[in-house]
Amino acid sequence: MIKRLLLKKDINSLLSGAFDESTGLKRALSTFELVSLGVGGIVGAGIFVLTGNAAAQYAGPAVTLSFLLALVACGFAGFCYAELASMIPVAGSAYTYAYASMGEFIAWIIGWDLILEYFLGATTVAIGWSGYVVSFLKDLDITFPRKLSGPLISYNPTLNSWHLTGNIFNLPAFTIILIVTILLITGIRASSRANTAIVIIKVAILLVFITTGLFYIKPELWHPFIPPNTGTFGSFGMSGILRAAGLVFFAYIGFDSVSTAASEAKNPQKSLPVGILGSLAICTLLYISVSLILTGIVHYSKLGGPAPIATATDAMGLTFLATLIKIGAIAGLTSVILVLVLGQTRIFYAMSKDGLLPPMFSLIHKRYRTPHVSTIVVGVAASLASTLLPIDIVSELVSIGTLLAFFIVCAGVLILKYTRPEIKRIFSVPWGPVIPVGGMISCLYLMAALPSGTWYRLVIWLILGLIVYFTYSIKKSSLNKTT
Ligand code: ALA
Repeated sequence: MIKRLLLKKDINSLLSGAFDESTGLKRALSTFELVSLGVGGIVGAGIFVLTGNAAAQYAGPAVTLSFLLALVACGFAGFCYAELASMIPVAGSAYTYAYASMGEFIAWIIGWDLILEYFLGATTVAIGWSGYVVSFLKDLDITFPRKLSGPLISYNPTLNSWHLTGNIFNLPAFTIILIVTILLITGIRASSRANTAIVIIKVAILLVFITTGLFYIKPELWHPFIPPNTGTFGSFGMSGILRAAGLVFFAYIGFDSVSTAASEAKNPQKSLPVGILGSLAICTLLYISVSLILTGIVHYSKLGGPAPIATATDAMGLTFLATLIKIGAIAGLTSVILVLVLGQTRIFYAMSKDGLLPPMFSLIHKRYRTPHVSTIVVGVAASLASTLLPIDIVSELVSIGTLLAFFIVCAGVLILKYTRPEIKRIFSVPWGPVIPVGGMISCLYLMAALPSGTWYRLVIWLILGLIVYFTYSIKKSSLNKTT
């Protein structure tokens, strides 16, 4: 049995299949579009929403250091993703890499775990999108009914209990996922064009904020840069920087989605590493600049609201800029949803091709050349989830699920370095085992900073995954045909 669970996919056969045009998916994405896909998937709720809370509750101006700390884990993982993507340029990302390096069982676990990153990630961001739209409408004196824009259930961490909120539906969240789903079905080209347009808007708006903000900085607000700890772990001081790093890690999620589009990239082995590392580098520069300017304009204690960047522009007395920022945020969150739903469908596509999920997930629409059935299933399920769940619970699950995926990808690089050194890597992680091992340790470190409730939920999710694997997937696996 153990031998069966550890059966691996042969990398050479994966490689020969990688360029097989009969997959039906369309090879349409250039390097620029892949970088743009990465930025589209990264810049969203993390910078537009969570930064303020991270500064106000945990780190103060040192939230910039939290961004750098979170970057350590993401940077290491980014290098590892880049190596594997250049080596095995196949849709499915971490799932496929695990299949080639650690066998079917771990691949299944990671594929199942990636649902937390992509599916729940899209759900979380759609809930954030709804919050921004409602607040934007309010600025225009339009009050959107609370009962139609809030979660149905909510969780009280102090009492450790769930309760019904009395809301009926989260209509904006539901609607945006449906719109994105329709766009994704109509083709990768149209989806990528829409994403690139949105990316240009959101990056331009952030650059306007950064350059204008430079003239309004009051350096005294940066003193002390690391506010002293209040006596509670995680409340300012060094532990606060760590706690905030766990929170803003969310802001970097999405760079790995570039690797899910491997089967749609024109020159995947060269352009995937550029897409992954390029988008990560661009977003890091944006995050460091935005967080420094934010805390240099408004005292960190006042940044805790849902729209911290708009709070800063209000403080600058530039109301029109606050409106622009909200438009940027709404646009930004839209592309994150688009990229995450796209990523989820491509991972399901790969899992279905391998027999681990039902065949409908790899059906390709003849005209649009997209996995339409999978996109509909993911879109509808995510729309419903976004109307049900509270944002804080899902966002932490997204982070822990992603960190686990990053951990396994780093482990995969390490394993393949020793077991398959002969395979050609167009991009290779430098300094031997340092980066993969550093990635594994830093991911575990950030996971440890997440609350115990999130760990329980992760374990329950993985147990559910085991049930599906042993009752369905292992029997239907395409490996059964070759053994
Ligand atoms: N990084 C993405 C965001 O911040 C998930 O919205």
